[in-house]
Amino acid sequence: MPDTAPSEFDPTGYIDERPGVFRVHRSVFLDPALFEREMERIFGRSWIYLCHESQIRAHGAYVATTIGRQPVFVIRQADGSIKAFLNACAHRGAALTARRSGTARTITCRYHGWSYAADGRCVMIRAEEGFHGSAIERASVSLAAVPRVATYKGFVFGCLDAAVDPLDEFLGDARAFIDLMADQSEQGMEILKGESVYMMRANWKLQTENSTDGYHVATVHRSFGTALSFRDSLLGTGADDPMKKTEAARILTLDKIVSGAYTLRNGHMINWSTRGMPEAVPLHERRARLEAVHGAEKVRWMIDRGRTVTIFPNLLLNDMASTCIRIWRPIAVDLTEIETWCLAPIGESAAARRARIRKYEDFFFPASLAVPDDVAAMEGAHAGSQASAHVWNDLALGRATMIAGADEAARALGVEPLTSNPGRESETAFDGFYREWRRRLAS
Ligand code: FES
Ligand SMILES: [Fe+2]
Repeated sequence: MPDTAPSEFDPTGYIDERPGVFRVHRSVFLDPALFEREMERIFGRSWIYLCHESQIRAHGAYVATTIGRQPVFVIRQADGSIKAFLNACAHRGAALTARRSGTARTITCRYHGWSYAADGRCVMIRAEEGFHGSAIERASVSLAAVPRVATYKGFVFGCLDAAVDPLDEFLGDARAFIDLMADQSEQGMEILKGESVYMMRANWKLQTENSTDGYHVATVHRSFGTALSFRDSLLGTGADDPMKKTEAARILTLDKIVSGAYTLRNGHMINWSTRGMPEAVPLHERRARLEAVHGAEKVRWMIDRGRTVTIFPNLLLNDMASTCIRIWRPIAVDLTEIETWCLAPIGESAAARRARIRKYEDFFFPASLAVPDDVAAMEGAHAGSQASAHVWNDLALGRATMIAGADEAARALGVEPLTSNPGRESETAFDGFYREWRRRLAS
């Protein structure tokens, strides 16, 4: 394998996978031409997470986001269906939504006042008669629709490629892990209020790696673990107190807990670990009800195991410290915007909701005790990748314990991973992501 940067558009040289080896060339984080290719071949053709249905319940409720670098918005239709459009006025391209989310049955462009209905039809053009000496045919200036929009259990995805395979097929075995979050309430799940957005001076794939990387937790999050286990020690024994605890002490003793990692088809990655204190989980109060509906085994996965579910290429569903959705938006080869939301079961008790939000703030907020440490680590990895003496990232940890196919825990959930690993402190799940990344770049 080459020890210098591979040529721009030959993705084969970026991965070294000789027997017993899995290395990724650090130029994957740095090369602007490669980034352009990713925008076209990955973000231009994959299913990309757009929003959760609970954010757009009413007719005209919208969420603005991006697919790759392309601005889009998702909007609820009068008949209850969901459509998404490129967020660009047909006149001279101005982005149409003033905020990241809102409600507008008619969207009026702030630049020159053209207006669009929620279904994308242009319904008003100011000084309409003055164009071309006659009125513009309004039907010819409708908003451009995102060709494919599909929902899995409340999670809304879009794809710019009309010929993409169905969403269900793309998610595959990841659906069983998404279910562990989506099925936490018979009344459904809801995104909690508030915006949580921050920037990272690093390549977007570093966040994909970090989201499923169990190896960094004991080092990067040691300060989180130490501070919160001290705080936990100050709590009393009142009725709500178990839920107020954080399990942070586990971070300091990760080597002693049962955990695992899976590589799924299509580049999705799973990492899980057994909780030391399931009664600290806000969902614990619903245990009996959930077991009656879903059975003990699925509820064991839901409550007794924390999970990170990383969906190719830029979505994380995290049910460890709290329940979090995270996406990372590529802006440039070395700049990424990250947004997170807290997802909660509808109908949980006030005490559980309070505990969930506090835990979310502890770990997932931009100014939490964990996220700034992650961002510093990822920015450091990006900066260090510029050093020319070492050009390969060796993702070897856990290779000796990795097995092909399902382990017992995966079989209990009815999934068949490509590989399983008995330790969350492993790097083997990255193989699936990078192979899918390469496959799409080459396609
Ligand atoms: S850019 Fe929207 S009305 Fe001109
Ligand atoms: Fe982290």
